Amino acid sequence: MNLKGKRIVLGVTGGVAAFKAAYLARELQRAGATVQAVMTEAATHFVGTATFQALTGLPVYTDQWDTRIDNGMAHIELTRVADAVLIAPASADFIAKLAHGLCDDLLTTLCLARNCPLAVVPAMNREMWANPATQRNVAMLRDDGVAIFGPDSGDQACGETGEGRMLEAEQIAEAMDAFFVPKTLAGRRVLITAGPTFEPIDPVRGITNLSSGRMGFAIARACRRAGADVTLIAGPVSLPTPDGVVRIDVTTAEQMHRAVMTELDIARAAARMREGPVTAATRAANEAAAADYGASGAGARSAGARGAVGGFADGDGDPTSAGDDDPALAGEQAAAAVDYGASAASPKRGIDAFISVAAVADWRVANRSEQKLKKTDDGGAPALEFVQNPDILAEVARRPDAPYCVGFAAESEDLAANATAKRERKGVPLLVANIGHETFGRDENELLLIDAHGSRRLPRASKDALAAALATELAQRLRAR
Ligand code: C5P
Repeated sequence: MNLKGKRIVLGVTGGVAAFKAAYLARELQRAGATVQAVMTEAATHFVGTATFQALTGLPVYTDQWDTRIDNGMAHIELTRVADAVLIAPASADFIAKLAHGLCDDLLTTLCLARNCPLAVVPAMNREMWANPATQRNVAMLRDDGVAIFGPDSGDQACGETGEGRMLEAEQIAEAMDAFFVPKTLAGRRVLITAGPTFEPIDPVRGITNLSSGRMGFAIARACRRAGADVTLIAGPVSLPTPDGVVRIDVTTAEQMHRAVMTELDIARAAARMREGPVTAATRAANEAAAADYGASGAGARSAGARGAVGGFADGDGDPTSAGDDDPALAGEQAAAAVDYGASAASPKRGIDAFISVAAVADWRVANRSEQKLKKTDDGGAPALEFVQNPDILAEVARRPDAPYCVGFAAESEDLAANATAKRERKGVPLLVANIGHETFGRDENELLLIDAHGSRRLPRASKDALAAALATELAQRLRAR
């Protein structure tokens, strides 16, 4: 979607994964990009230039003394019209050269002389990848603002198994596409529910609905691509987890309720923990600055605050801290953390937005059987009794630390009126309405956004396109908050 019309310089370096770069060239072009291949001399030992020339329809450059460029400056000219340089595969040697600014061939020189972003896809033996020298070089590239895609873990050409394997062509193309998405949600944390819930009747039967989870998963992907930290709480669906998204699987509405509340509690506790030390650090920095420099204390104050925030943010980012396999334990940890940070003067919200896309069952079976129910000879049917499930969205919206809440409404008729009433009933600022039976299980949808000021229609489009539009809308609303 975002690769359409983009011009990518595809740099291929010497490694057995170079053959995958040929598939990558195809994938990038299929997504609408123009690909200009540049190869190192070593790369040509693995794949011929003719392969890339035939696939891309453009001459392939390998030599900085190439006379086909009018002014003889291939290293300058090739990137001046490019939107990005993508190195795949990037060998350990090439990464080392990049990190240190060496330029002893066309591709290294071109990278140093470029005026566009650079993305690198490492591919090497697991020991080479794990070597502190390589890790140091990769860290340096990251610090320089270079994007690193992968590596993956698995079987390697050398016969060993481990980390260092190059991502597959489709994954690299997806990462490159995401790379061009404006990071409107950078620094935001978004919690999303998706899919149906399943309410057991007995150990083998239950009640569920037709939600496929596709819209919620598409929104999780879109928010992640826009730069947000995304946690996705998914009901029983068999969809792949979008890249970079933390996923927690649940089955019933009660489990979904507990997972959502636990995530909010933990995020709030972590935010408060950040507040506490920052307050102390800020006070200390202020005092030191006042003593030493008088009025110029501002710099010391912000540096102190940044240091403390960075330290705690690391722990906070650990997806396993959610404790999704033991919500009770996670709840205890959250409670302990809340105590620790209780002195925080102005507790910050941990999660910025909650998007409730899941089709949560309204009722669960109150008299669920521990054993499988048996058919009886008298033709009778089991008498099921129901009890209402907690309304997760309404409860989140009522919390004192409520994030910006977005609800979904799947209606079967009178969309605008029903959805407007639902928005008020749930107490959420934004409600996204669609016709349930026209969206469940399909790839396309049509949405109606309803807020306190009125409504706006997002016309029929793919769920991915609608999700991207919704992520942009959310970013604007969070900024205006
Ligand atoms: O009331 P209704 O189910 O139509 O409301 C739909 C919205 O409320 C969706 O955003 C859904 O995810 C959320 N919901 C919820 N908990 C429930 C029922 C619905 O969070 N028990």
